[in-house]
Amino acid sequence: MTSEKYGTPTPSAPVPSRAMECLAPARVNLLGEHTDYSGGLVLPMAIPFVTRAAIRPRTDSHCSFTSELFSTTLTLDQTDRSAARGDWSDYPVGVLRELQNRGAEPPPFDLRLSGNVPLAAGLSSSASVEVASAMAMLALTQTRWTIEEIALLCRRAENEYVGSPCGIMDQFAIVAAQAGHALLLDTRTLAYEHLPMNKGELGETRIVICNSMVRHSVANGEYGIRRRESEEGQAVLVARFGLRDLGDATIAQLDSVCSEMSVAALRRCRHIITENARVRAAKEAMNAGDPIAFGKLMLGSHTSQQNDFECSCEEIDFLVETAAELPGCFGARLTGGGFGGCTVNLVQHGEAERFCSALKAAYQRRFSRTAETYLCEAADGAWRQNSHLFATTVPEPASRAGAK
Ligand code: GLA
Repeated sequence: MTSEKYGTPTPSAPVPSRAMECLAPARVNLLGEHTDYSGGLVLPMAIPFVTRAAIRPRTDSHCSFTSELFSTTLTLDQTDRSAARGDWSDYPVGVLRELQNRGAEPPPFDLRLSGNVPLAAGLSSSASVEVASAMAMLALTQTRWTIEEIALLCRRAENEYVGSPCGIMDQFAIVAAQAGHALLLDTRTLAYEHLPMNKGELGETRIVICNSMVRHSVANGEYGIRRRESEEGQAVLVARFGLRDLGDATIAQLDSVCSEMSVAALRRCRHIITENARVRAAKEAMNAGDPIAFGKLMLGSHTSQQNDFECSCEEIDFLVETAAELPGCFGARLTGGGFGGCTVNLVQHGEAERFCSALKAAYQRRFSRTAETYLCEAADGAWRQNSHLFATTVPEPASRAGAK
């Protein structure tokens, strides 16, 4: 329990008596992987999959949570403070719990979730559910929260209630993204900017996601192990050089203390430090509208995830290596938490359809498994998608330049 208080209540707004529906997209990360829990940079965009959270007030003292996907309903009394159950309901219940902890409890409600975000694919289905649920509960209380407040609330729900040690990237991107843009976020300060995807020759490319259908889960142990190993290395660097976190570290600094940490910690830190540098370079490539430079950074990121962060797998490596050889492909990499899930590919517009067919056919031949491909435009985040539901106009967030 904390005394932090968030949000601006809309003056004397009555509890809406009608049902409302809030939407949240999914996200794909273009660059900046596993940098968001040590003060680094990330470059995700929202993609047009959707979670729908329909909410309506109840007249008794209960809150119910229904998922069309799992065909189950959980009903809890408002006073309930039970622990996570280990199923889909933990995500919306976690959001409610965090609101309750912050003295922002919504009135009793029925919440019904539906949508089409691929599950366990590294496209943030969980954050999408959290954000859609949070927006719905806030719409019911008619309370305006900032982008930062909503994203932090949802991450806390996942860290504290669900028990998954994720960073801030997914929730932030799903709230704050802007159509046609990638979101450059400094995860230490939460300063961000929207970078247009259509400059120069970048405007003639498509983002293609390929789902290996190998299931990925952030809640499983490997993510937490990698995180702890990188924190071990970070602690050495912080102690030696007075840094705030790995976001400030350089490879020269890492090299000079490499004998003071485990080989695993050294590799994880090397990935994170070089990945932050790749995100900085990606900003330059985007501003220059240069898909060749951007693609090289993606391939470099993949190699670093493969060898240093060791979060890839055979199927994903095959998809990246195959993609890189296909006509029109500028770059490819594992995206999201890793250990399965999806690759993200930057592909020449006119080649995108053929690229998808060729990649799926090669994967089928090699693994006797059917991959899925999604051609994606950068979508709006939940902040923009739901602003009409709040009694007062939700102000446009000023894009804050200066993400490192
Ligand atoms: C998952 C987590 C994020 C981030 C990525 C890796 O998606 O939820 O916070 O750490 O993995 O970049």
